[in-house]
Amino acid sequence: AWDSLAMTPPMGWNSWNFFEARVSEQVIMDMADAMAANGMKDAGYRYLVIDDHWVAGRDKHNNLFPDPERFPHGMKYLADYVHGKGLKLGIYSDAAMLTCGGVTGSYNFEEQDARTFAGWGIDFLKYDYCNAPEDVATAFSRYARMGDALKKCGRPIVYSICEWGQRKPWLWARAAGGHLWRTTWDSRDVWESHDNNLTGIMEIFLQQEHLASYAGPGGWNDPDLLMVGLYGKGASSSVDGRFKGCTATEYRTHFALWCMLAAPLMVNMDLKHITPDVLQLITNPQLIAINQDALGKQATTVLKRNDIQVLLKPLQRGDMAVCVFNRAANGQSFDIDLKKDLALWQPFQVTDVWSGKPVKTLKGQLGAHDCAVYLLKAGQK
Ligand code: GLA
Repeated sequence: AWDSLAMTPPMGWNSWNFFEARVSEQVIMDMADAMAANGMKDAGYRYLVIDDHWVAGRDKHNNLFPDPERFPHGMKYLADYVHGKGLKLGIYSDAAMLTCGGVTGSYNFEEQDARTFAGWGIDFLKYDYCNAPEDVATAFSRYARMGDALKKCGRPIVYSICEWGQRKPWLWARAAGGHLWRTTWDSRDVWESHDNNLTGIMEIFLQQEHLASYAGPGGWNDPDLLMVGLYGKGASSSVDGRFKGCTATEYRTHFALWCMLAAPLMVNMDLKHITPDVLQLITNPQLIAINQDALGKQATTVLKRNDIQVLLKPLQRGDMAVCVFNRAANGQSFDIDLKKDLALWQPFQVTDVWSGKPVKTLKGQLGAHDCAVYLLKAGQK
């Protein structure tokens, strides 16, 4: 059924890649304080998602309850706190008896757990697929069971489907009630891993190209959490230190590409210690406007020339976003003609997103893995 819970890609923060099993009430309150005060909330970030490892088990009425040491006041208290900051709280479960981290999941308790989440004031559910059967029919029915339960639970809850793109969820996730669906295995904090089991940012990016037509207002392809600003500090995302993280340039390209892809924007770093340059990147008003554009189109590749790849994202009112991306590990120059190269014949007023300044041509020099982003406003020369 259609609803208006995710008319643009959800934006927020998720506990997984930095805090992992250390997620706690204190962590979420600290992140809420930071998000409300540091400009992220003003930029559109809303959700604080508690990922795996919050559950202690079921009580004698089979109600889920959180780890009493890390969540001493319970989830309702925490949701009230987060709501008091004008933000929203997300939580995590799994379509099996156990989650990926091995704590209690929601299989066979979908309606009860959805009611529990609603009672606490939860606004977002990430629903994982560890320890569940492989086949697509079972995956669909298990996701639809929770999707139906959420629809009946009496509270609007964004439904994030996390089966890692293995059963083409872009074909059925909306029918299961999903608002976003993972399209790949977990992202690692590395530009390119050359390992299909440990997908780096480039491996993930390449898997989005054929999926653009499935994204749109109400439901989004989810190329996983943003690695931006982690710098190798997450245990899973760094694979216990094997990956040292990306360069600042790579993170800015990662962020720009996810904005172009109309991807959910979920950062993971410790917001208490976010650096000014990372904060500036993730709150860039033009990039956010590109990502949150109401038309809800995912960018497609419109040109490949040597190692330069050009993505185009149509925006509302005839505006366009163009990203010129250097995939090479050495510098490249580019000179893109809007008419001849991109078949854009109408007049535009062009802004370079990094400088915020108007430009006449899409032309320049890009370092390794860097990108340029242009906002094209229709109707003016
Ligand atoms: C899976 C998911 C991740 C994260 C972990 C938690 O790997 O894909 O995003 O939720 O489980 O255990």
